[in-house]
Amino acid sequence: MPPTSADPISYTAKIVAAKRAIEQSLPLPLPLFNDSYAAALAGDEVEHLLAKWQQVSAQQGRSLEEVIVKRTRYIAIRTRFFDDMLLTTLSQLPEPQVVILGSGLDTRAYRLPWPSATSFYEVDVPAVLEYKANILRNHEPNCRHHLIAGDLEDVQTSWIARLLEAGLRQQPTIWLLEGVVMYLPEPSVHALLRTIATLSCPGSVLGMDGVTNGSIRAAQQAKKDDRGRVVRHWQFGCDEPQQMLKHYGWSAKVSQPHDIGIAHGRYPESIPVTAEVGGHQSERGVWLAQAQKDT
Ligand SMILES: C[S@@+](CC[C@H](N)C(=O)[O-])C[C@H]1O[C@@H](n2cnc3c(N)ncnc32)[C@H](O)[C@@H]1O
Repeated sequence: MPPTSADPISYTAKIVAAKRAIEQSLPLPLPLFNDSYAAALAGDEVEHLLAKWQQVSAQQGRSLEEVIVKRTRYIAIRTRFFDDMLLTTLSQLPEPQVVILGSGLDTRAYRLPWPSATSFYEVDVPAVLEYKANILRNHEPNCRHHLIAGDLEDVQTSWIARLLEAGLRQQPTIWLLEGVVMYLPEPSVHALLRTIATLSCPGSVLGMDGVTNGSIRAAQQAKKDDRGRVVRHWQFGCDEPQQMLKHYGWSAKVSQPHDIGIAHGRYPESIPVTAEVGGHQSERGVWLAQAQKDT
C-alpha cells in the first residue's frame, strides 16, 4: 500500500520525496543533489504539489519558479547538508555503520557511493519500508543494507534489539534523524536521544534537524485553521538544540539553512525567509545540527 493522507506519518515521507523529485527538474544551474529514485517513490504527489503551486503562483502574482524554490528549498538544502555530513564522516571511519531513524523514502543506500564494507540500517514503520522496497525492487543498494521495522516512540523494545541482531556494533556510528523529531511527542524525543547516546561510543556522529517552539505554536494554529498538510502533525520544538544535545553527550554545530554555503542562490532577497505557516515570524525557524559524541 502506498502512503496516503489517511496515514499522516507516511504521507509526510511522500511529500518530502516529491520535493526531492521536483528539485531534480528545477531550471536552476544545478540541483543540490542527485536522487533519480525520488519521482518513482513520490508517485502522483509530484503532480499534486505542482498543481497546487501553480494556483499559488496565479493567486499571488509570483512566478511558478519562485513558488517552487520557496517551497522546496529547505528539503533540498537539508538533503545536501546531510549527504555532505555522511560522506565526509564516512571517510574517517574504518568500518562505517550508518543508522537512519525515520528513513521514510530516503534513497541514500542506493544513490551515495558507500565503501562496500558500509553497514547501513534504516528504521521506519513497516508500511513505509515495504512500499519503498517494492518500488526499488529492481535496484541494488551500494552497501550492506538492513531494513528494521519499528516504532521510534517505543524505545523499550523491538527495533533496538533488531538493530543489534542485524549487526550494529559498539563502534563509531553515524546516526541521522532527518525530518523526524518534530513529529514525535517531547518525552519520546528525549527517550530516543537517550537511547542513541547509550548506543554511541565516542567518535560517533549525529545529524538531526528540528523546528523552534515558535514554529510549533504556528503549526498548532494552522491545524486549528485547517491549514498546513504537513506542519499540522508537528509536536516537538526546541530553541536550544546545542544545549539539548550537550545534555546527551554530543558537541553540536547548529546552522540555519539560509546561512549554509551550499544554499546560496536559494535564499535571494527577492524570496524572503518566511515559514509557510502563520504566527510571529521572529520566533519561527528550523535548524540543522551536526554533532560529535564526546564521552
Ligand atoms: C517527514 S518523513 C522524513 C523521512 C526521511 N527522513 C526524509 O527526510 O526523507 C518522517 C518519517 O518518520 C517516520 N516516523 C515518524 N514517526 C515514527 C515512529 N514513531 N516510528 C517510526 N517511524 C516514524 C515516518 O514514517 C516517516 O517516514
